[in-house]
Amino acid sequence: MAENGSIKKIAVFTSGGDAPGMNAAVRAVVRACSYNNVQVAGIYRGYQGLIEGDIEELSARSVNHILQRGGTFLKSARSADFRKKEGRKKAYEKLNSHGIDALVAIGGDGTFTGAFHFNKEFDFPIIGIPGTIDNDLYGTDFTIGFDTCLNTVIDAVDKIRDTAASHNRLFFVEVMGRDAGFIAAHAGLASGALAVMIPERHMSIDQLLERLSDARRHNKSSSIVIVAEGGESGDATRIAKEVQERMPYYDTRVTILGHLQRGGSPSCFDRNLASRLGVAAVEYLIKGERDSMVGIIDRKVVLTPFEKAISEKLQLNPEIIRISDILSI
Ligand code: F6P
Repeated sequence: MAENGSIKKIAVFTSGGDAPGMNAAVRAVVRACSYNNVQVAGIYRGYQGLIEGDIEELSARSVNHILQRGGTFLKSARSADFRKKEGRKKAYEKLNSHGIDALVAIGGDGTFTGAFHFNKEFDFPIIGIPGTIDNDLYGTDFTIGFDTCLNTVIDAVDKIRDTAASHNRLFFVEVMGRDAGFIAAHAGLASGALAVMIPERHMSIDQLLERLSDARRHNKSSSIVIVAEGGESGDATRIAKEVQERMPYYDTRVTILGHLQRGGSPSCFDRNLASRLGVAAVEYLIKGERDSMVGIIDRKVVLTPFEKAISEKLQLNPEIIRISDILSI
């Protein structure tokens, strides 16, 4: 552990897919540094910007009025160069030349995999903050951006439901989540979807058809099926085509929500989560912690080693699916 006072300058960056609330997290890191008399710098475009030395000194005032803004003012990127040892060496040199002695990395599992390797090679203090709409990180109940994304998705599905009901149509709505079904499952429950197709619980087309037949028997004239983009049961367009062929009396439509799920002003929940985690990350670095992700589990701030955060899988709460199934009758 580093001694108190040995961290003089911290740099913060955002990496991977952006998420609403990343700005709030950067603000919290910058202001917590100022509060603790630690210098702070912002690295633009994640690891790629670090390799290229795209670094700027920040102050408490540099982060005025960003709490409520979506996206990330530090920009984000997925860096192929940082996956190579040579790229990581350049990054280390840039950190030294800027007098930076610790990092706060805001992102998802790709970001933390990079941080894990970097720490192994250069023994450099890094704390990660989970920022991704996917919510697929072990070591925290919620990631920054997930709640805002869910609100965006249910707002869209509510609107789709209006037109679905007017035309007695069956809609397949594809949502993001990469290989995980958190967005689909939670948004499915909150929007009253007839079914959710997620990688964590594979539903075959036959099972889906059975559910649709039941819905017809129960006089449902329109329905929404939420499809997670990843896994065997992903691809709303393919599923809709198969259902249309086997149930020609249905008038089916597909909506792929896409990147609109990543935008927008962060919700109250995400702003507060980001603020708590940003301050915690700085406090942990000052205390000498490193090589870990900060998260909140059961309302308490906790640290999880990067190795564990990237190798273990956060389990989707089966209760979400069970309740959804009961209510879709
Ligand atoms: O990880 C966040 C995420 O939005 C995933 O849900 C999605 O699969 C992916 O990023 C899309 O990445 P890109 O913006 O590079 O197309």
